Amino acid sequence: MTVSIDIGEMAGNARAGMDLEELLATRLLVQGNSGSGKSHLLRRLLEQSAPWVQQAIIDPEGDFVSLAEKYGHVVVDAVGTEKDLQMIAGRVRQHRVSVVLNLEGLDADRQMKAAATFLDGLFDADRDLWYPMLVVVDEAQLFAPAAAGEVSEEARRRSLGAMTNLMCRGRKRGLAGIIATQRLAKLAKNVAAEASNFLMGRTFLDIDMARAADLLGMERRTAETFRNLDRGHFVALGPALSRRPVSVKIGPVETAGRGGTHKLMPLPDQPKEEAKDLIFTRSADEEAPRRVRAPEPVASTSDVLTQLSGAEDAAGAEIEPAASLLDYGEREGTIDKIIGEILDEPDAAFQPIASLYQDFQVRCRIAKLAGGAPDLQAFREKLSVARAGVEKGDVDDSDWQQAELIAAELPEDMRGVYLLLAKAALAKAPCPGNIEIATAYGTRSPGRARWLLSHMEERGFLVCATDLRGNRIVTLTDLGWQTAPGDEAAA
Ligand SMILES: Nc1ncnc2c1ncn2[C@@H]1O[C@H](COP(=O)(O)OP(=O)(O)OP(=O)(O)O)[C@@H](O)[C@H]1O
Ligand SMILES: [Mg+2]
Repeated sequence: MTVSIDIGEMAGNARAGMDLEELLATRLLVQGNSGSGKSHLLRRLLEQSAPWVQQAIIDPEGDFVSLAEKYGHVVVDAVGTEKDLQMIAGRVRQHRVSVVLNLEGLDADRQMKAAATFLDGLFDADRDLWYPMLVVVDEAQLFAPAAAGEVSEEARRRSLGAMTNLMCRGRKRGLAGIIATQRLAKLAKNVAAEASNFLMGRTFLDIDMARAADLLGMERRTAETFRNLDRGHFVALGPALSRRPVSVKIGPVETAGRGGTHKLMPLPDQPKEEAKDLIFTRSADEEAPRRVRAPEPVASTSDVLTQLSGAEDAAGAEIEPAASLLDYGEREGTIDKIIGEILDEPDAAFQPIASLYQDFQVRCRIAKLAGGAPDLQAFREKLSVARAGVEKGDVDDSDWQQAELIAAELPEDMRGVYLLLAKAALAKAPCPGNIEIATAYGTRSPGRARWLLSHMEERGFLVCATDLRGNRIVTLTDLGWQTAPGDEAAA
């Protein structure tokens, strides 16, 4: 039986037909720049062939779900697990139901994995279920990219494998690949090369034109005509279409797509100042970045026992009478001065804490510090703040108290860096570079600075963002303060 579907009109009002049986055996590639009418063409083809052949559409934009109402396609939303999707694909073959796999809203990586799973499911059907089926993939360059992109290697490998199977080995299993792409040069060559039918729409880029000419076995000069095609006009060539290249105007469709052309609309009247507010002010229903508390690490039994025995010791120890407030202030001042002197020594910022503490104890003895040197823990805290180079006098006191209050809740090793960032934020200064952060952390390694920031981000203390120029902005979540953009690599 020969079934020819009507895809549109050729020159001189002649109808352009497409031989469905031939199409099943020889596959189709559609190419044209955005807006050239590829999705419309696919829709025309699907609508015209719906009564004759089962169809599956891999639909990255949710464009084709409207086929469901008029033509009875079942929309498969990629919501379950991969296993579910694979089972559904198996049943699609078994029951010969036409479907739209709607991948709208998934990120590129997940779209690729879902498409691969579904295509593999169709492909792996038992031999007695190998009924003919059109498998339409819109935006095929997403699923069979010519080059590695930003997606994971696993997603790319799987998706490319499934597309290659569809186009190279699908025919035997009844699967006829129909793929559409905006950019031929972005589509994997082996996938494109398996189609014997072509519908070429408006194409601007030389590199795409050259690929098209190669595929069609045309002179490059002849392919130049693709540049001047109108929307909805395609050059058709191939065993299911025409032996010679002919120009076809694709006919109308019954169902509506989502995409389309946009009519110009007058802009709403708005004074300039208000427009600024609309964009830069957070509205009531938008959420401010919030601190997500990471679960506290679980203490080991031995930690708990040590803590308990420590508590007992403390209970037994004699509590020293409180020194007068005056003495306290003086003592703190002396400690700060000693720490300052230690950090003035070259390379002091990078010495191990134990040797710095020894040095500190000696200096306290020399200074005859009332009450003796503070313990290692207290020293660590003071040192981490001092390393960050934050002096109280630099900034507004009440704001600064808030920052110190929050910093005091943080793990001790993060405090100095937190205050360093707080100081920058308060002064509306650029976010410190990795070297400065590393130094405040007691290391020379910029990698450690990056690690520390992402660690602090995981714990919810701050949020790092990159502006369009690649500069880093840090928001301190609890304080709601933000640094100005700063170069990570700044010395
Ligand atoms: N043959 C045609 N007759 C009437 N309208 C058409 C025709 N072809 C395309 N259009 C209209 O042009 C617009 C763009 O077409 P379409 O969405 O098919 O482009 P596309 O090539 O798929 O673009 P993209 O690559 O961005 O998805 C749509 O509004 C569509 O309805
Ligand atoms: Mg489209």
